[in-house]
Amino acid sequence: MQIHDKNFEIFITADEIQSTIKKLAGLINLDYSDKELVLVIILKGAFIFAADLVRSLNFQSQIELLSAKSYGKEITSSGNVEISLPNLNIKGKHVLIIEDIVDTGLTLSSVKSALNKFGPLSIEITTLISKPAMRKIEIDVKYIGIEIPPVFIVGFGLDYAEHGRNLPDIYAITS
Ligand code: IMP
Ligand code: MG
Repeated sequence: MQIHDKNFEIFITADEIQSTIKKLAGLINLDYSDKELVLVIILKGAFIFAADLVRSLNFQSQIELLSAKSYGKEITSSGNVEISLPNLNIKGKHVLIIEDIVDTGLTLSSVKSALNKFGPLSIEITTLISKPAMRKIEIDVKYIGIEIPPVFIVGFGLDYAEHGRNLPDIYAITS
């Protein structure tokens, strides 16, 4: 399949993604069923993962949206993270950040320190995908769906130059 100038092939199927989300939801349900939780969804990429995940959670929660963008070449993280931060009501509350993919870790590290300023009780992170070999900064991600090698992927919310987010499966770049 071609998107813009690049070729992609299937990498993670929709079925595999859905069973991963069920597994993550099971762990999160165990940890938070007796707590009040605020789910902070990182836009744009995490919107599809989050939509499926939150519907598998069996406790009440507040949902907030936050947009983070790292500028640079399209298939590499630049490290310049721009966060648009509304005035979030998370003081004294448990927070779970929902992210699509952790690559260098720079986005989540900026998001986490921005959220910490509001005085939450705790902050944990869940991500559908992690590329551990790409980390530039250590970041503690409590609930990781699938670990992959350092390959660029699209689909299920993830884009290549703003295309491919709507694909139900995840594709990896080949050339
Ligand atoms: P980090 O700051 O390097 O951890 O990058 C996180 C952000 O980079 C994610 O929220 C994605 O928007 C983007 N990103 C990283 N890897 C990929 C990928 O393989 N495909 C699409 N976007 C990616
Ligand atoms: Mg993104």
